[in-house]
Amino acid sequence: MISEYLSSLKAVSGMKGRSGLVNAGIAAGLVAAISLSSTREALADPNDAVMTMDNGQTLATDVKPAADHPLEHLYSGWRFRTSETQTLQLDDFENPGFPAVDTGEALWSEVDGSEGKSCASCHDDASTSMKGVRAVYPKWNAALNRPHTMETQINECRTTRMGAEKWKWEATQMLAMTAYVGLQSRGSAVNVNISEGDMATWNAKGKELYYSRVGQLNMSCANCHEENYGNMIRADHLSQGHINGFPTYRLKWAGLGSIHRRFKGCMKNIRAKPFKRGSDEFTALEVYLAARGNGLTVETPAVRN
Ligand code: HEC
Ligand code: HEC
Repeated sequence: MISEYLSSLKAVSGMKGRSGLVNAGIAAGLVAAISLSSTREALADPNDAVMTMDNGQTLATDVKPAADHPLEHLYSGWRFRTSETQTLQLDDFENPGFPAVDTGEALWSEVDGSEGKSCASCHDDASTSMKGVRAVYPKWNAALNRPHTMETQINECRTTRMGAEKWKWEATQMLAMTAYVGLQSRGSAVNVNISEGDMATWNAKGKELYYSRVGQLNMSCANCHEENYGNMIRADHLSQGHINGFPTYRLKWAGLGSIHRRFKGCMKNIRAKPFKRGSDEFTALEVYLAARGNGLTVETPAVRN
C-alpha cells in the first residue's frame, strides 16, 4: 500500500528544507514523495504579500510571527494555490462557499428549540456581534474548564440557551453557521490567547501532536508543513497548513469542510488512524495551530483544491 502511494509520487530532485538537505528524520518514503520542482523563491511570484479582494478589501498573506516562532514568515495557504483557485476566493460571487454562507445567514434568524429563540434573538446583527469572534477561537471557557471551539460554542448556545438539538460537527447547518460567523471576522488578525486558563496545557498537547510521527509513513505534521512547504507532493503545492480560512470550500469535497475534517484527511494520507472530530486531540491540535497562525488574517470561507 505504501509503495503504491509512493510510486504515484514524483521522484525527489533535491531538498532544501529549513533543516538542510534531506532531513535525517524524514522517512525514505517521504524523500521520494517530495520534489523540489518549485523553490521557496518562486512562491513570491505571482502571489502577492497582500490579497486584494474584488470588494477592495486587502488581506495580508505574509506575516512576521513572534520572535521565537519556528517559521520566519507565516504564509496564507492561499498563496500556494493555482491562480484559478485563488481567483475564486477573491470574489464572493464566484466563491463556491457563499451559498453555504447564505444558508448560515438564514439559520441565524430561524427560531429553533423549546425556548422559541433564534441566534438573532440574543445576538442581533451578526455583523456587529460576531465581528472579530472567529479570530480568537478556540477560546478558554472557565465554566467548562476547557477551550471552546466555534462548533462547541455554537452547540452550547443551541442546547443550553435555545433548547435545540446539537448540530453534528460536519452537519450542513454547522458548516453554514461556522462559515457565516467566521465571515464576520474576515480581515481580522488571528489572536488566540494561550495564556488564559489552562490554554497553555492544551497548546502544549497540540504542539506535541504536531511534531509526533505517526502512521505507516511515520511522519509528523511538521515534516510536511514546516520543513517542506513550498515543495510539491504529488500534484499538490505544500502550504504551511494554517487554519485561518476555515471552514474551507474544497473543490475536491464539493463543499465546505471543518478544520477537523482536514486534520483527518492529512492523518489518513500518512496512513495513521485519525482522531475523531471534536476529540480532545483535535481540539488541542486546533488550539496549537490557531495560535501558531496568530497574526494571519481570517479568510473564511477560503477556497482550496
Ligand atoms: C438565549 C440567548 C442566546 C441565544 C439564543 C444564542 N446565544 Fe450565543 N451566546 C449567548 C451568550 C450569553 C453568550 C456569551 C457566553 C459567554 O461569554 O460565556 C453567547 C456566546 C456566543 C458565541 C461566542 C461569542 C464570543 O465572543 O466568544 C458565539 C459564536 C455564539 N454565541 C453563537 C450563537 C449562535 C450561532 C446561536 C444560534 C445557533 C446562538 N449563539 C444563540 C446567548 C445566546
Ligand atoms: C505527507 C504530507 C502531509 C502531512 C504529514 C500532513 N499534511 Fe496537511 N496537507 C498536506 C497537503 C498536500 C495539503 C494540501 C495542500 C496544502 O495546503 O499544503 C495539506 C493541507 C493541510 C491544511 C489546510 C491548509 C489550508 O490552507 O487550507 C491543514 C490545516 C493541514 N494540512 C494540517 C495538517 C496537520 C494538523 C497535520 C498533522 C496531523 C498534517 N496536515 C500533516 C500534506 C500533509
